[in-house]
Amino acid sequence: MSSEKDRFGLSWPKDAGSRREALRSRLGCGEGRFGGFATVSGILSTRPEMIRELDRRIPGLVMITTKSYQLVPNPGNREPIIVETSAGSFGNAVGLRNPGMEKALEELIRLRSSWKMRALLNVSLSGSSPEEFVRLAEGFSPVADTLELNFSCPHAAPGYGMSIGVDPELVERYVKAIREVTDLPLLPKLTPNTEDIGAVAEAAMRAGADGLVAVNTFGPELYIEKHSGKPILMNIHGGKGGKSGRWIHREAVEKVRSIREQVGADPLIIGMGGVEDATGVIAMREAGADVVGIGSAFAMVRPEDWEGWFEELAPSDGAEKNGRTAVPRIEKPQMVYRPYRIRSARSGIGGLRRITLDGRVPFEAGQFVFLWIPGVGEKPFSVALSDPLTFLVRERGEMTRALCALEAGDTLYMRGMYGSGARLPATRRAWILAGGTGLAVVPTLASALSGRGSKLSIFMALSDREAAAGTMRDADTLFSKELSALGSYQVVQDDGVIGRAVKVFAGELAAEGSAAESALYVIGPAPFMEAAAATGRAAGIPADRISLSIETSTRCGVGLCGECVCAGKLTCREGTFFTLTELEVRGVKPGDFSDDH
Ligand SMILES: Cc1cc2nc3c(=O)[nH]c(=O)nc-3n(C[C@H](O)[C@H](O)[C@H](O)COP(=O)(O)O)c2cc1C
Repeated sequence: MSSEKDRFGLSWPKDAGSRREALRSRLGCGEGRFGGFATVSGILSTRPEMIRELDRRIPGLVMITTKSYQLVPNPGNREPIIVETSAGSFGNAVGLRNPGMEKALEELIRLRSSWKMRALLNVSLSGSSPEEFVRLAEGFSPVADTLELNFSCPHAAPGYGMSIGVDPELVERYVKAIREVTDLPLLPKLTPNTEDIGAVAEAAMRAGADGLVAVNTFGPELYIEKHSGKPILMNIHGGKGGKSGRWIHREAVEKVRSIREQVGADPLIIGMGGVEDATGVIAMREAGADVVGIGSAFAMVRPEDWEGWFEELAPSDGAEKNGRTAVPRIEKPQMVYRPYRIRSARSGIGGLRRITLDGRVPFEAGQFVFLWIPGVGEKPFSVALSDPLTFLVRERGEMTRALCALEAGDTLYMRGMYGSGARLPATRRAWILAGGTGLAVVPTLASALSGRGSKLSIFMALSDREAAAGTMRDADTLFSKELSALGSYQVVQDDGVIGRAVKVFAGELAAEGSAAESALYVIGPAPFMEAAAATGRAAGIPADRISLSIETSTRCGVGLCGECVCAGKLTCREGTFFTLTELEVRGVKPGDFSDDH
């Protein structure tokens, strides 16, 4: 075990009674009081940057839970990983995606050595044997305040998650083994998918648990998309995924009640399942929860409203009257697929393809959609033109390969818009630098800037490799007519000098001497953006007028998976454009992001 000096988390009494009391008191729920709120595993607080953001912003959170970590990295399932059956009701098969213990520890050590947490950090663990859990518990002990034991994921690989949690004897054996190696509070997370959840809870407490977390998702269930007739989720369970959110709330409350009835008044219970308002919190409280977990409902409240929402959730607050809430909810389903017929698909050499659909959707530069091919997967894409809907796709992986193979007349499925339109300060001068498929964002951005009266120069960077493949030269012909009409438009080939486009831009800017009245927009591969931003900055363009399109690996689009966090914000809600100031405030570099289509 680690020595005290290597520990970032809290230290707890060895004696079980004192430890449980200390935990209750730390959570503010001694003597039957309501402690507060927790984030739940796998939703939103999945990356250290978001953990810090939530800890900083929401005082009502007494516990922040990580995603479930395993010993070795697990890429999880291919997207789609989440479906929405009606507003606020979800199914998921993320597949316990996580970076593995070594990387996770690195990240959590960085978090804890740079940020003093107010809430408890509850580290969720997922193993398939007592030995694996023991190694995880020992490994994570230095960074965790409490350890949550995932005995409950319903769509995990055999041996993990729910396959443990349906059997009281197994649960007892696992908890006993883990108890041997740590004094941290142990919080087994229970599955509702068992006849007798109370018996499992009792077995866990008997074996030395310090509290119970309930419930994980219900099911799993199959989700068929109505237009295609095909399953949406993709995994080893034939597309089945666990149910969360609104549609499980009542049953989740009853499961918590069963646990409380079985284990008596003492054990700490962290209750969760579809809680989204004060009424739900009260129901969980009355059923026996000391702390209430908030998960799927994060998809229904915009990030800027989180503080107000948590104030409203607190049972003592009288804000909720007659079921009305002051903080707006997103009541429209956000993940509905619509089929589109492909009107035309033109190939560029080197795998670049311009795909035009029969249809139009209004959108702003910086917003994006998900394109889905049943059985293959889905990925986020910028919209190049909105009328007719046009995409620029370059082959990078399985999904883009399948997309590029589609022909006129085929059907493609789309959901969205996601993200926010780029903020466009009214400047006399505007510069756009685009590289790679960044070109896809340019037509809409350029027309918005030109509409605001900015004099516009657009540089399209073309690497020698792309030039040899003909890729971007072809891309140039795809959009040059539209772009030349809006300002000065040039394609700049590297010609042996990497990033020559950035140098050409810098030369023109210096010659003009207009940096102070300029705005710069950069879209492209991470190193290109880093170089362009640094050059613009050095030339004197103010950092809050340098905007970068950060295309993080967004997976759900609705604020649940938390994967797309950038500078403390969700790219799927507030991106894709961030100013250099926003990034610098959080110590984020444009070069930190990459994608994996
Ligand atoms: C996208 C998603 C990912 C999840 N990942 C995990 C996980 O890694 N570990 C875990 O124990 N529970 C996981 N869960 C279950 C939640 O932590 C929670 O128990 C469940 O969603 C019920 O709460 P809710 O209705 O408020 O979302 C996940 C749920 C969702 C929707």
